[in-house]
Amino acid sequence: MDFAVTLDSNSPSPLHQKLYEELRYCILSGRLSPGRRIPSTRQLAKSLGISRTTVTQTYDQLLSEGYIETVVGSGTFVCTQLPDDLLRSTPIPSTGKMTRPPVKLSKYGDSLIKTENVPRVAEPEMLINFRYGRPAFDQFPIKLWRRLLSRYCCSDLQWLDYSTDILGYKPLREAISRYLSRSRAVNCLPEQVLIVNGTQQALDLIMRLFIEPDDVIALEDPGYLSARLIFQTQGAKLLPIAVDESGLVVKDLAHHSNEQIQLVYVTPSHQFPTGAILSLPRRLELLSWAWQTGAFIIEDDYDSEYRYGDRPIPALQGLDRSDSVLYIGTFSKVLFPSLRIGYLVLPKSLVSAFARGKWLSDRHLPLLEQQVLADFIEEGHLERHIRKMRAVYDSRRQALVKSLNAHFGDKVTILGEKAGIHLMVKFHTPFSDEEIIQRAALQGIGMMSAAPHYLRTHSQGEFIFGYGELTEQQLEESICRIAQILNSS
Ligand SMILES: Cc1ncc(COP(=O)(O)O)c(C=O)c1O
Repeated sequence: MDFAVTLDSNSPSPLHQKLYEELRYCILSGRLSPGRRIPSTRQLAKSLGISRTTVTQTYDQLLSEGYIETVVGSGTFVCTQLPDDLLRSTPIPSTGKMTRPPVKLSKYGDSLIKTENVPRVAEPEMLINFRYGRPAFDQFPIKLWRRLLSRYCCSDLQWLDYSTDILGYKPLREAISRYLSRSRAVNCLPEQVLIVNGTQQALDLIMRLFIEPDDVIALEDPGYLSARLIFQTQGAKLLPIAVDESGLVVKDLAHHSNEQIQLVYVTPSHQFPTGAILSLPRRLELLSWAWQTGAFIIEDDYDSEYRYGDRPIPALQGLDRSDSVLYIGTFSKVLFPSLRIGYLVLPKSLVSAFARGKWLSDRHLPLLEQQVLADFIEEGHLERHIRKMRAVYDSRRQALVKSLNAHFGDKVTILGEKAGIHLMVKFHTPFSDEEIIQRAALQGIGMMSAAPHYLRTHSQGEFIFGYGELTEQQLEESICRIAQILNSS
């Protein structure tokens, strides 16, 4: 039986005395409850790495004072009746929880407790769920992934050790920088790529390195809730900037020239949640604004791999000539979210500060998955998988759009269907969002209102439809059921 005991190495008392005090405290505080067996002297001496004589001396004292008793043939136990006078003379209850003075958290800790939606509300179990951000899990090349895992798992066991590469596994950074320059026209060397635990950690690091309470960050409105929460909980001043069919209304930023905007967060390839694609003139306007004001642009390029029809617009980062862009990418959509691997492409001057922040916060990501992913990209599997999935998602998207049009006609407006694995839908209906969600839930359908993603007002009836993980048949059937719900009074 292992029993963890902390012996105060700074205390000048002899070892048996320290052990006695610790065990007595455990008994009085209830950690060792009455009647509970305690380790034998041999076991405890071995687990603490001290002599058995010391432990025996301590047990003798506890025995003589009535804290423990030995039962021949069974072992040593905490006495069921502790001496009354001892219980009275100590403020520590013999059982139950000790009460502490109220906990004083930091401002950040406090705002974590007080801010709504942290963590995001758990999605209820549904037969069909339109939750966003989920790829088609059943299409993932699991056999191939397993083969790559066993390639590393069974050979060199270097991955069991701490990594000394604080930016992340070098071959993975090399593979990512080549992939980004091929597919997104991102301009970067492997030395500018920091491997992070998904987009969320990239944003968290940016917040910690750039933002003091009351600093100003401009955000798309509506925009990605999980990004906003990072800055909100830090006490940043959030500046909502409108979004239209060409993405962020960049000229609105100039209306805030009296504010010192530190950062602007954007999703240019597929605005979240409206799906607008930031036009090329606006991209250039945004870069020029950042260059003039000294602000940094956070480019969240979370699902740009999936476009339907239109030619890809290069990433903002690739157009930037003034080192103003912090580019974030993730494998959550193109592979799977629990992989928790993303990347941050940084201007060279910022790499060292970010790498130190990352190293202090969690050292590094698991090496095995980084090794597997590096091979997955370098051997061409990633781009093959994306090509295949683009066709799958395109069919699903078309099925969804077709069903929405067929069942709702002019009672629906569909937004942002040219890219990604979700689209936004505005229902022209008298029902409130809550009513729609409740009625759909009764039919086993999970629906997500866009309302929490708005910073200011929002128009009623807007829903995000993630379709990545649903089959065409599921999409058609569930839209038909939603139509029945909304068409009945
Ligand atoms: C706008 C946006 N960015 C990023 C992500 C992915 O986040 P992560 O890489 O932390 O899984 C999502 C997921 O839904 C998203 O909607």
